[in-house]
Amino acid sequence: MTSSLSSTRLLLPFLRPSKWAVPVRCFKTAPATSFVSQDSENRRSAAMPRVLITGGTDGIGREAALKLAAENHEITISGRDSKKAKDVIELCQSKFNNTPRFIQTDLSLENEVIKFANQVADEQYDICILNAGVMNPKPGRTSENREATLMTNLISSYMIAHKILDKRNDEKRPLHFVFSTSILVKFHNATPLGLRFFNPQKVSDWQKSLVPSDVSGAGKYAISKIGLATLSSSISLANLPNVTSTSVHPGTVYTNIMSNLPSRQQFYIKLARPFITSLPDAGANLVLAAKNPLPAGMFYQTNKATKLPDFVYSESSIAAFEEVFEQFKIQN
Ligand SMILES: NC(=O)c1ccc[n+]([C@@H]2O[C@H](COP(=O)([O-])OP(=O)(O)OC[C@H]3O[C@@H](n4cnc5c(N)ncnc54)[C@H](OP(=O)(O)O)[C@@H]3O)[C@@H](O)[C@H]2O)c1
Repeated sequence: MTSSLSSTRLLLPFLRPSKWAVPVRCFKTAPATSFVSQDSENRRSAAMPRVLITGGTDGIGREAALKLAAENHEITISGRDSKKAKDVIELCQSKFNNTPRFIQTDLSLENEVIKFANQVADEQYDICILNAGVMNPKPGRTSENREATLMTNLISSYMIAHKILDKRNDEKRPLHFVFSTSILVKFHNATPLGLRFFNPQKVSDWQKSLVPSDVSGAGKYAISKIGLATLSSSISLANLPNVTSTSVHPGTVYTNIMSNLPSRQQFYIKLARPFITSLPDAGANLVLAAKNPLPAGMFYQTNKATKLPDFVYSESSIAAFEEVFEQFKIQN
């Protein structure tokens, strides 16, 4: 798997070649999931990139979906909540005469992820925004006894992205991934404690992160976002033909993802609303990353401090990550 195109992540840079991990196929596949809503009459022009947005039912993903629908893209959103999806679909229909499709799926559950990944891989999207996420989920372990944050935010994205790459049927057609990460990736090595707590260059640290416990807190959230940035680097630096990948911190916005934070933290974040990113701007940042893959090493906002911790794109981090995560590639 070689090619000429590479790209970026986290509004951020990195540029070293890395090896594409050899698949270890351990999951069995299952039939496709059902649609809650479908409108074949309203398919968009074939020339417009077709966009998948996981977590498109709420918050930042919802905002991005509305913006892309306004631009006449054919979009598919996913989430667990069909009521939220109905609201997005009706809004897109009434405002933009555009009917998004909705795939109902719970990305914390392996079987649902496998069904979803197979379905969206068959559908050959041009842009895949893997944005669904949780913070401090309760309980901290899923009903399948997996670490809840890691499964929902990172493992599911890894499974979906790799299945999409596996089933890609036209290497000449551009395929672009966007991963919603977090500014926490940048903060992680701001003090020596960060790397002592979790060192992405260590296989054992990635393995430990997957061990479920009753509490899935801020540390797991940060690791899941470091993992998404690393996944994006791994895809980008693999230089697959016409495949690009960008990870993006969309901005800090008070959304439902914060509903499990301690109430005092929620209070301060709400208080800071006028000074932090607005929801429409965060949605616009996701759309920017979706529509403008950057050459490796470039930033959208060149006036901002841009240095990323090396570990996000170092060969050793990517190698450690792939060694642990390749077990999650879905078997045919
Ligand atoms: N808000 C911030 O300040 C911030 C900052 C940096 C990065 N981010 C990242 O941006 C992304 C979106 O966050 P947000 O703030 O927009 O949160 P949000 O408003 O809570 O939206 C989260 C989305 O993810 C979906 N989701 C959650 N758990 C799911 C599951 N188990 N299965 C399937 N879908 C699931 C939700 O859909 P349903 O409710 O329909 O299941 C919803 O559409 C996340 O990855 C987050 O980490 C957010």
